[in-house]
Amino acid sequence: MRHAQPAFFAVPRASMLLGGLLFAAGVSAAAAEESTSNLVKRSLASAEKQYTGMLAAVQSTPGFPRTVENGQVKIVEVKDWTAGFFPGSLWYLYEATGNKKWRAAAEDYTARMAPAKFDKTHHDLGFMLGASYGNGYRLTKNPAYRDAMLAGATTLVTRFNPKVSSIQSWELWKNTNWAFPVIIDNMMNLELLSWATQASKEPRYREIAIAHADTTLKNHFRPDNSSYHLVDYDPQSGAVRGKQTVQGNADASSWARGQAWGLYGYTMMYRETKKPEYLEQAHKIAAFFMNHPRLPADKVPYWDFDDAAIPNAPRDSSAAAIVSSALLELAQFSDKQLAQRYRGFAEAQLRSLSSPEYLATAGENGGFLLKHATGHKPAGKEIDVPLNYADYYFLEALLRLKASQK
Ligand code: GLY
Repeated sequence: MRHAQPAFFAVPRASMLLGGLLFAAGVSAAAAEESTSNLVKRSLASAEKQYTGMLAAVQSTPGFPRTVENGQVKIVEVKDWTAGFFPGSLWYLYEATGNKKWRAAAEDYTARMAPAKFDKTHHDLGFMLGASYGNGYRLTKNPAYRDAMLAGATTLVTRFNPKVSSIQSWELWKNTNWAFPVIIDNMMNLELLSWATQASKEPRYREIAIAHADTTLKNHFRPDNSSYHLVDYDPQSGAVRGKQTVQGNADASSWARGQAWGLYGYTMMYRETKKPEYLEQAHKIAAFFMNHPRLPADKVPYWDFDDAAIPNAPRDSSAAAIVSSALLELAQFSDKQLAQRYRGFAEAQLRSLSSPEYLATAGENGGFLLKHATGHKPAGKEIDVPLNYADYYFLEALLRLKASQK
């Protein structure tokens, strides 16, 4: 059965009300805890304030706000993998409030994404076009947005190699000996392909998404269900050449955001295909993350579960936001007991992210919502900073939490 919502960023069904209420009853024992609906309302109101300031500061500049660097908002070009998240967050604010001001801003920033649909140089078109055009199409049904996404999906499949049965993630960067690198993050780009088959009735896009998810399932995971960041393949034979990290602490370590992408990716691919092995993998990744002995009490992970500096390692609020959104969806595909656990965990993460420790007060944090995210620690970049994708998945998770209360 397909979701009532279109493929992009479906929110939970109201039928999950009972689990949410049971959880709410459980946590209400913790004395004066803020109600779930107030938590969502307060955080969305705070997001509106922050992004009003952000828009006023950046809208006349070409490009997209990504993070804060040297005290300044860093603006990136359309070719940056994160470009679509700011437009996506604007669409979420429009969805949350119905305020036309957010729609106009989202339309402006979505239009700026246009060149991405023909960019054959990387795999991130699913992130870039899904967050911007995908949400725009879901909320407005503008046919031009549909055309842009189909063009982007057609571009993305040019990176598929049938021998490897995967989409190539990155180009062959200097100073690497890669032949066909595939990263766990790539799971997130498959939603665009599944949507494209639904929209065009052309099966090839979804077939490629399934082939990629199957190959990743086979080669990226370790016996404890954590994942390698990058698997390199021989493009001629499809054989695995190596497994390593680029953004994590070590090849064998568990980079927190990588685990989050895997969890979200297999949950989404189960929604799209109903293949039981994807659901099983999503449950396994959830268990790895939720039960990890080095997950802090506030459930916002260190940037890598295996950094020897823990407990003095930086956190990654983006990983927490992605996981909370993924768990709220996974709860829909789970028995009552697990659903309650997933929802409870996600809500606890969102409570942490909505606390002053993580949620910026109006005017600080360069106008971004969440503090304490980590982009690329091994490169010494974006450590303990705001990131546009942390904000995007935070807003998505808040909307999913809100929908689960109905
Ligand atoms: N997809 C790149 C990252 O998660 O940093």
